[in-house]
Amino acid sequence: MTNLTLVLGAGGKTGRRVARRLRDGGVAVRAGSRSGTPRFDWTDRATWAPALDGAGAVYISYFPDLAAPGAAETVGAFAGLAAPRRLVLLSGRGEPEAQRAERLVRDASPDATIVRCSWFAQNFSESFLAEPVAAGAVYFAADAVREPFVDVEDVADVAAAALPEPGHEGRLYELTGPRLLTFAEAVREIARATGREIGYTPVSVEDFTAAMDGEPEDVVALVTYLVTEVLDGRNERLADGVREALGREPRDFAEYAVTLR
Ligand SMILES: NC(=O)c1ccc[n+]([C@@H]2O[C@H](COP(=O)([O-])OP(=O)(O)OC[C@H]3O[C@@H](n4cnc5c(N)ncnc54)[C@H](OP(=O)(O)O)[C@@H]3O)[C@@H](O)[C@H]2O)c1
Repeated sequence: MTNLTLVLGAGGKTGRRVARRLRDGGVAVRAGSRSGTPRFDWTDRATWAPALDGAGAVYISYFPDLAAPGAAETVGAFAGLAAPRRLVLLSGRGEPEAQRAERLVRDASPDATIVRCSWFAQNFSESFLAEPVAAGAVYFAADAVREPFVDVEDVADVAAAALPEPGHEGRLYELTGPRLLTFAEAVREIARATGREIGYTPVSVEDFTAAMDGEPEDVVALVTYLVTEVLDGRNERLADGVREALGREPRDFAEYAVTLR
């Protein structure tokens, strides 16, 4: 096997950062992308083998989400084709479908490293909450529940260490930030760090999904599943994955918030 690493979702929140770190460390990277050469598309299995050809390791970030219908089977089938390469799977915490995907990947590749993450801090700036944050008014279906937001810079540090370095095989790293915050507190921290006024209003799941009127049905179903499954308090605890993988503390939400200035 070569040290060429295939990074899936190479233009995405984590993949972009993983690819940069690997390249900076002298690892050859193939960007897994629908516009790459060769092309990689989760929905077109014929693109999988050419993308894997010559690669010795793969960073697997699924799109849109491991909670999407069929995602676990798709990722499991991909892992079957990708084994025995070195595999690192990005996964979500407290999500039954994501945990099923982890099991299928491990069935195909027992040495795979699982990077199981809490809610990304960067959802406030690089995902569906970016627009409301920029507009100064966030309406979301989370009230008193607290989440240990993880910085995707930490996710990328862990994945980029686990891909080329020995010692991470077969490990499950559960990554969180070092602090539990409600969504209102997180938005307040962003407002304070950026000197902007940003309101946060908790709404019911029904009102939140109703406000998604016009979005495709599968997107509404996916978001409804995520806000009901993941934000019910099950994840209100810190985990040690960053320390276990890297021997240092995770970045605090405040460190992320100042990057938005
Ligand atoms: N957000 C969270 O809080 C959170 C927490 C825990 C786990 N996760 C997991 O994180 C994963 C997403 O990772 P991420 O946030 O780093 O990625 P992301 O930012 O959502 O990735 C977007 C990339 O996916 C690629 N893409 C879109 N459709 C594709 C397709 N059909 N085939 C191949 N690539 C496609 C696009 O690249 P091209 O246009 O170049 O193809 C795009 O750059 C999900 O599986 C989710 O379960 C998320």
